[in-house]
Order: sequence, then C-alpha cells, then structure tokens
Amino acid sequence: MTVKTMEDLFVETLKDIYYAEKQILKTLPAMVKKAGDTKLKDALETHRQETEGQIDRLEQVFKLMDVPARGKKCEAIEGIIAEAKEHMQDIEDPEVLDAGIIGSAQAVEHYEITRYGTLIAWAKQLGRDDAIELLEANLEEEKNADMLLSRIAEATVNEKAAA
Ligand SMILES: [Fe+2]
Ligand SMILES: [Fe+2]
Repeated sequence: MTVKTMEDLFVETLKDIYYAEKQILKTLPAMVKKAGDTKLKDALETHRQETEGQIDRLEQVFKLMDVPARGKKCEAIEGIIAEAKEHMQDIEDPEVLDAGIIGSAQAVEHYEITRYGTLIAWAKQLGRDDAIELLEANLEEEKNADMLLSRIAEATVNEKAAA
C-alpha cells in the first residue's frame, strides 16, 4: 500500500510491530530452552506468554482501524533475531551464552519500546484514543521485561561470566 496519510503510516507501522511480535513469539521458546539461569528462563517464559496477549491486543487495534490484521516483513527484527540465533548456536560457555541471550532479548525489547512509543504518539495525533490504551498496555509489558532483564544481568549472569 502507498502511504499517503498519517493514518496509513500508523497502519503500516502497526503491521511492522505485528510481524515483529509474531517472529518474537516463534523465537522465544528456543531462548527459554537455551537459557541456563532459572530466573532468566522464567522471565523469558513469562514474556512469551505476555507476547501472546500483545498479539491479541494488536489484533484489536487492527479491528479498531477497520483493517485486516496482517504483518509486514520487518528487516530490523529479522536482524535482531538472526543475531540471537547466532549466539545460541555459537556460544558454548553457558554463562556467556546467558549474557548473550539477555543482550539479544534487550535489543528486542528496545525495538518494541521504540515502535510502541511512536505508535502511541501517532494515535494521539490521530485522535485514536481507543487504540492508545491497548498500545500502552503492550508498551508497559515491554518496559517491565527490559527492566527485569537488566536486573537479572546485573545480579547474576554478568558476574558469573566474568569469573
Ligand atoms: Fe512484545
Ligand atoms: Fe517484548
């Protein structure tokens, strides 16, 4: 589709994050499996479940915008996921691997945070208050996941990997 209006741009970006969330949902089980630290494993599994809910919320936003829920390939998330997969394949030391997984997971969260931040700003501009609440719920979960990953990294993983 050609982007002509702010509403078109909003929908295009919605498709981007929808695609990204679905790719993340597909990748998280491998990250859960590969993570060694129990807290990290739990955090990733919790976020996998949250991601399912986020996809539902995005489908509600598509409905509000009166367009079918469809993703649009996002090269940015593909790159971040490719890097995560590379770490999972190449790193043998379990503690270094955990640090790598956290780094990739946080890159994902930051990507999501920037997308949701932008979408919320545009929804405000478009007067689409109905979409804002759903997008903010997703943004909150991404921020919390990011903070939790930082805490796990600081508390255990980085310390052990450096030993
Ligand atoms: Fe997400
Ligand atoms: Fe996330």
